[in-house]
Amino acid sequence: MTDEPKSVEEAAALLRAGKLCAFPTETVYGLGADATDADAVLSIYETKGRPRFNPLIIHCADLAMAETLAEFSPLARRVASLWPGSLTLVLPARPSNGLADVATAGLDSVAIRIPDHPLALALIAAVGRPLAAPSANPSGRLSPTTAEQVRRGFAGRVPVLDGGPCRAGVESTIIRVEGERLVQLRAGAVSREEIERRLGVPVDLAEKDEAVAAPGMLASHYAPNALLRLNAEPRAGEAYLAFGSVAEFGGPMRNLSPNGDLHEAARNLFSMLHELDAAGAGMIAVARIPDEGLGEAINDRLQRAAAPRG
Ligand code: TXA
Ligand code: MG
Repeated sequence: MTDEPKSVEEAAALLRAGKLCAFPTETVYGLGADATDADAVLSIYETKGRPRFNPLIIHCADLAMAETLAEFSPLARRVASLWPGSLTLVLPARPSNGLADVATAGLDSVAIRIPDHPLALALIAAVGRPLAAPSANPSGRLSPTTAEQVRRGFAGRVPVLDGGPCRAGVESTIIRVEGERLVQLRAGAVSREEIERRLGVPVDLAEKDEAVAAPGMLASHYAPNALLRLNAEPRAGEAYLAFGSVAEFGGPMRNLSPNGDLHEAARNLFSMLHELDAAGAGMIAVARIPDEGLGEAINDRLQRAAAPRG
């Protein structure tokens, strides 16, 4: 059993130190990490056993914090008037917003919410940074609505700030702002009807494909401009994304982890793809990555990036 944080301050100290801490929100318990710390965010995926980098919801203490992360159109601002609340907004990310690439799965949008729970708000404020948090359950299990369920789910290995049972018990509603339209990507704790009534703005349903697949999982979202060749050695004129101990080659090259550390490789994946793309090669040869541990997630992302483009 891990030591349980007995106060918001103790929980905040864990998070500031790059550790995970589960915390209550009004919807479900979240497995929180400092969203600006790539290693901390990677621990979320490892701890949940989440097979791929599904983008995470970024939890903010107030609108000022949220505005450092995303661009708010007038319509987005109007929806944000429902915060704090069980509503997540998908908005264009601000460049250089400090979020770890793995938290947003390298997308140029970001999902944000301000939870309506006094402990969650106090915790985020005490950390002073946005918190990435999926539901605090092992992948494939039910979302937890009590601290006890979190402890049981992770066999006591994850510290939990206990705030009693969650009020909503179902995850937040996810809304994407698309120009002058609101599109619901996930039904959740606030109904479409309630949002429409409170804002006086219609909320459309996402196309079936968008709603079913986590929107971030579409291959084209992850694809760099360059094409990818996987499990490959670089040829002249290509860029090379290497892994493990390899010699320099003549062209643009990044090494995900010279020591063959998959954790380091996962942390570097999106940013190095961005950098090689910026180097302008039409093709990026990607070294073989072992398909174990975090390698599964890395290969999943690489396969999506290399998939034929629609
Ligand atoms: O109530 C909740 O929303 C809980 C509490 C802890 O806040 N969190 C939660 O997180 O349910 P999670 O990881 O289970 O769901 C996150 C969802 C995923 O379906 C993901 O695809 C979507 O949010 N998402 C995140 N970023 C996105 C983005 N940029 N565009 C579209 N969808 C996004
Ligand atoms: Mg979940």
